[in-house]
Amino acid sequence: MRAWRVVRYGSPQEALQLEDVPEPVPGPNEVLVRTAASVCNYNEVDACYGRYLTVNPPLPYTLGMEVTGVVVGAGELARHWMGRRVMGVSSNATGAHAELVVAAADMVFDVPDALDDVRAAAFCIPFHLAYLGLHERAHVQAGETVLVHAAAGGVGSAAVQLAVAAGARVIATAGGADKVEFARQLGADVAIDYRSGDFVDAVFEATDGRGVDLCFDGVGGDVMQQSLRCLTRGGRHLVVGFASGIEAEEVPMVTGRTFCFGNLSVMGVILSYQDPATVPRGYGYNPFPPEVGRRVNDSLVALLEAGTIHPVVGKTVAFEALPEALAEMAQRTTMGRIVVQVGGGQRA
Ligand SMILES: NC(=O)c1ccc[n+]([C@@H]2O[C@H](COP(=O)([O-])OP(=O)(O)OC[C@H]3O[C@@H](n4cnc5c(N)ncnc54)[C@H](OP(=O)(O)O)[C@@H]3O)[C@@H](O)[C@H]2O)c1
Repeated sequence: MRAWRVVRYGSPQEALQLEDVPEPVPGPNEVLVRTAASVCNYNEVDACYGRYLTVNPPLPYTLGMEVTGVVVGAGELARHWMGRRVMGVSSNATGAHAELVVAAADMVFDVPDALDDVRAAAFCIPFHLAYLGLHERAHVQAGETVLVHAAAGGVGSAAVQLAVAAGARVIATAGGADKVEFARQLGADVAIDYRSGDFVDAVFEATDGRGVDLCFDGVGGDVMQQSLRCLTRGGRHLVVGFASGIEAEEVPMVTGRTFCFGNLSVMGVILSYQDPATVPRGYGYNPFPPEVGRRVNDSLVALLEAGTIHPVVGKTVAFEALPEALAEMAQRTTMGRIVVQVGGGQRA
């Protein structure tokens, strides 16, 4: 089968090579998916450069975190998935930019009837992650004010929609006039171009000097530091990712003074569903149990079917164009998801 392999570290065009490789074999609780579509995730840009420590297997390996397609093989504990059209996260968050992909059974979900393969591909990670962050971790409440960074991006555009759906008032930030306008169209009350000036003043202006209850932050670094100044008393800062520089993941960002003086909380979220019995202890890794994933997916499908939320497909590209598409993400020019069409695809 064909697969995009990281063969050396560098820009996506330098790092990636399209190769013929053996078909992967699912483990006992895994499925094998014939890929209709994969997706560009920002983490894959960092993975190409070899600076994403969370997913950094030895070279060469197949890139890709997210797959949509039909289950054509399954381990002994996952046979009931055979033949089903699924969307989900690939095993070890690698291997998805390929014609066949292995995924843990706990990380795949039936594609909702309303979605074709392209829109399903744009749905899974953004909405699961945003829902986990806003509801399971930060317990967002109707009437609260939520600041969402990179609001026109894949995950950010889902967070705006889900925060609005929860009855929150959303202040969005994004880089550039088109993205700011797009965030407004998604339902943000206020949208700020944080590349053209200090967003802290704009946030206080938009909240009559009060600040926000919650910040959904997939950017990190300086943006995180500034955001902590935007929180009101009792506010929560949700660490989602580090698009402004993955190095910040390993740098202590918050002092005791920040917590005490701010009367605030800093929390994080990871999109991972795993049987607690299989999670190694003592590593500080605490995925959600699989039943949370099923419950979150049911809630998301209900919102989708009600027309309250929709996946944002910024563009679709051919399988052969993956390196250029990832380079666009690195240049910060994309909105929503870039979906990579791998197989013939199937319509709902
Ligand atoms: N916690 C988890 O389990 C998990 C899982 C998946 C993804 N994530 C994180 O979620 C975040 C969003 O991922 P995504 O795939 O949806 O990406 P994305 O938001 O579509 O793209 C990244 C965006 O980050 C913003 N950005 C700010 N500073 C940047 C910089 N220096 N270089 C490039 N972009 C910059 C850009 O938007 P503006 O131009 O508008 O600033 C850019 O469009 C990432 O941090 C990712 O690591 C976390």
